[in-house]
Amino acid sequence: MTRIAIISALHDELSAVLQLLPDEQKTRIAGRDFWVGHLHGQEVVAVLCRIGKVAAATTATVLVERFGVQQMLFTGVAGGLQVGGEGDPHTRVRVGDLVVAREFIQHDLDASPIFPRYEVPLTGMSRFPTDARLSDALAHAASQVLIDPAATLGNEVVARYHLQAARVHQGLIASGDRFVSSHTESQALRLALPDALAVEMEGAAVAQVCHDYGLPFAAMRTISDRADDHAHVDFPRFTAEVAARYGAAVLDEWLQALSKY
Ligand code: ADE
Repeated sequence: MTRIAIISALHDELSAVLQLLPDEQKTRIAGRDFWVGHLHGQEVVAVLCRIGKVAAATTATVLVERFGVQQMLFTGVAGGLQVGGEGDPHTRVRVGDLVVAREFIQHDLDASPIFPRYEVPLTGMSRFPTDARLSDALAHAASQVLIDPAATLGNEVVARYHLQAARVHQGLIASGDRFVSSHTESQALRLALPDALAVEMEGAAVAQVCHDYGLPFAAMRTISDRADDHAHVDFPRFTAEVAARYGAAVLDEWLQALSKY
């Protein structure tokens, strides 16, 4: 049986995940609660990541070293970066859309001129890919959930956040130790990393740890804001009403599909 880590960036999301586990047992290490249980015939270890790249790397390392996990899934929220044109709805990343990561970069890593900007020293890499098979399954699970968002969120929430046409995007996610909450900052990120779909604070750290240990990794983020001057508006409400529910629903669908192989 494969042991799979489920790393949540949000309290509400972890609570929703724990509700899916019938038999979880808690172990406390490094100030974190790790919940070992079962879901769709897979052994899972669920944990709250905490915020920022160091917290994420510590969480991921404990999952490998103390729990022997063989795969990792990360879910949470992110700020949307891709604006797209008015007539270009496909690249536009909107609040309530889901982004499945295909690669991660640390947007605040800069050891130049000794190493190229963004490169993680001594790895020769700037971009850390996610696992293709797990990410394909995750994108499929996300699309399944978005066929009928109201089944997961309820009609009222779908209407309130205009989620009827929510979409799944796949590509680059940028991580850094900063909540991006001004237009100036998000515009600078768009110029520096034009293909980045979204920005958050942990994914690239987990991707790097998984790369170092040779573990398959997949990640999905619900877009909670546009990483601009309105980025803080109603954040807790959105995470509770939308992101936490999407995270748990996609996880459920993903594990169900994986357990068929
Ligand atoms: N997570 C969610 N929104 C974010 C933002 N705007 N910046 C960084 N991390 C985020």
